[in-house]
Amino acid sequence: MHEKRDYLFTRLKQIRSQLKNISINDLFTLNPKRFDEFSTSIDDMLLDYSKVHINQDVLDSLMQLAKVCKLEEKRDSMYKGDKINITENRAVLHIALRNKPNKPIFVDNKDIMHDVQEGLNKMQKFANGIRNGEILSSSNQKFTDIVNIGIGGSHLGPVMVTQALTAFHDGPKIHFVSNIDSSHITDVLKNLDPEKTLVLIASKTFTTIETMTNANTAQKWMKKALGEENASQHFVAISTALEKTKDFGISEDRVFGYWDWVGGRYSIWSSIGLGVMIAIGTENFADFLDGAYEMDQHFKNAPLEDNIPVILALIGIWHINICEYPTRAILPYDQRLSSFPSYIQQLDMESNGKSISSSGDALYEKTGAIVWGEAGTNSQHSFFQLLHQGSQIVPCEFMLGVNKTDTNMNEHNDLLMANCLAQSQALMSGRGISEVIRVLEKRGVSHEESIRLAPHRQFHGNRPSSTLLYKELNPKTLGKIIALYEHRVFVEGTIWGVDSFDQWGVELGKELATEMLSYVQDNTKKDNKNIDSSSIGLLNKINSWRK
Ligand code: F6P
Repeated sequence: MHEKRDYLFTRLKQIRSQLKNISINDLFTLNPKRFDEFSTSIDDMLLDYSKVHINQDVLDSLMQLAKVCKLEEKRDSMYKGDKINITENRAVLHIALRNKPNKPIFVDNKDIMHDVQEGLNKMQKFANGIRNGEILSSSNQKFTDIVNIGIGGSHLGPVMVTQALTAFHDGPKIHFVSNIDSSHITDVLKNLDPEKTLVLIASKTFTTIETMTNANTAQKWMKKALGEENASQHFVAISTALEKTKDFGISEDRVFGYWDWVGGRYSIWSSIGLGVMIAIGTENFADFLDGAYEMDQHFKNAPLEDNIPVILALIGIWHINICEYPTRAILPYDQRLSSFPSYIQQLDMESNGKSISSSGDALYEKTGAIVWGEAGTNSQHSFFQLLHQGSQIVPCEFMLGVNKTDTNMNEHNDLLMANCLAQSQALMSGRGISEVIRVLEKRGVSHEESIRLAPHRQFHGNRPSSTLLYKELNPKTLGKIIALYEHRVFVEGTIWGVDSFDQWGVELGKELATEMLSYVQDNTKKDNKNIDSSSIGLLNKINSWRK
C-alpha cells in the first residue's frame, strides 16, 4: 500500500507541475462542459468544484489514492461500529444518532439503536414539556430562558445550530456560556430572571474545568435567588459521566446521557443538542437528524466519483499536500452561518491536527488544514484583499443558499448571491495589466497614470475555490451540510492515516494549567523550577499588577 500511495503522490505532483502552465480559465476554454463534469449534486444541494485547479487526470489519481488508502473498507468499518478510535479503543458512531431505529448497529455485540431511540424519546419528552409548559420552574412559571454551559463540542455545535436555525426558533431563548472568563457568565446571567431560567450543563466528561467552574457559579447564583431546595429544579445535566452528574446534585430524570462512541465535536446529534431541540421543537430536530441521515447514506452508497464528502476531501488533499496551500477559508454567505467556520475549526483541526499515524509512526506529509473563515459579505470587506492579491494562495470554500426561509427581500438576496458569484469569478479570472490599463483609461485616467497604477490594481487570478450551493437553510439542509463536513474530515484523516477521533493535543495545556494555578494563587511559592523563565517573568508582573 505504501508504495502505491507514494507513487500516486509523486504522480499528482507531476500533474501539478504540468497544470501550472495552464490556468483554470484556460481549462474552461478547453472544455465547455467543465461545469457539468466538475460539479455534483444530491437533492437540493450542489457542489461546484470546476473552479478548482484540477483536471480529470488529477481526479482519477485522487480517486485511486482513496482506494489505495482503503477508504471504502475504513468507511464501512466505521459504519459497522468497529473500534476505529484506536488510542481510546472506542467505536465512532455519530452516524448511529441519526440512523433509523430499525437498522441495527452493534457495539460489543449489542444493538445500540434501542438505547439511541430511548435517549431521543427522553429528550423529546423533556423538550416538549418545557415548550408547552408541562414542566415548570420552582415557582410554577414557564421557563423563558435556557443557558447552555459547555465548551468545545459541548458548545460550538449548539451555538452554531441555534443561530443557523433562527427562522425555526419558537421556544424559549437560548444563551451560551463557554469561556472561564468571569465576564462571560456575568454578561449572560445579569439579564436573566433565575425564576424562569433553566441551566443545561453540557459536558461529556463532566470534569472540564471551564464548564464545571461556570456550572458552580450558576448554581450559586440560582441557590442565592431561589434557595437550596428550589435551585435543583433549574438544572439539567448532559453527559456520559453519570456518577459525576449525581455528585453535582442533579436528579436522574434531569440527566441526559450519551455514549463514549460519540466524540465531543461530533455530539450535536446527541443529547448535547437538547437546547437546540427546546428552541426549534422536536419535529424540526427530527428533520435535522434526517438531513444528516441522507448525507450518511450518500457517503456510504454513492460511488467515490460522485460522492460529495469524498470529492471535497480529495480536493483538500490536493490543496494541502500537492499544491502546498496550508490553509483554507470557509465562507458561508448566510449570515446565520457565521459561526460555521468556528464549528468546522474544531471539527477539522481537532480531528486531523496530528503528526503521528494510527500505527504510531511519524508522518512526513503535511496533515490537517488550517481552517478559518467568516460570513460573506462581511469577509469581503476584511480579509478578501489578501485572498485576491496576497502572496499566499488560500483555497476558498463558498457556501450559498438560494432562498431565504423567513424573509422575502429580493433586493438583499439578489445582491448577496451576485456578490458570492462575483468573488469566486474574480479569484479565478483575475484582471491582467493590459485590461486594468484599458479600464482605467476608459474611466478617464491618463495613460501615464494608468501605467503607474496598473501593477497595484491587477489581479493575477487563477485562485481556486469551490461553491456549495443549497436551496434554503432549513434543519434538513443544515443536517446534511454538517454531516458532509464530518465525512470530509474522516476521508482526509483516512488518506493521512491518522486517528481522527482522539484529541491528545489538548491535554498537556490542561495539565500545566493545574500546576500553574498554584503559582497564580500563591505568589510566595518559590519551588518553581519546572516553570520556564518567561512564565516566571509574567507571573511576577501579574502579581505586581494584581488588585
Ligand atoms: O478541548 C478538548 C475537549 O475535550 C473537546 O474535545 C471537547 O469537545 C471539549 O473539550 C469539551 O469536553 P466536555 O464535553 O467533556 O466538557
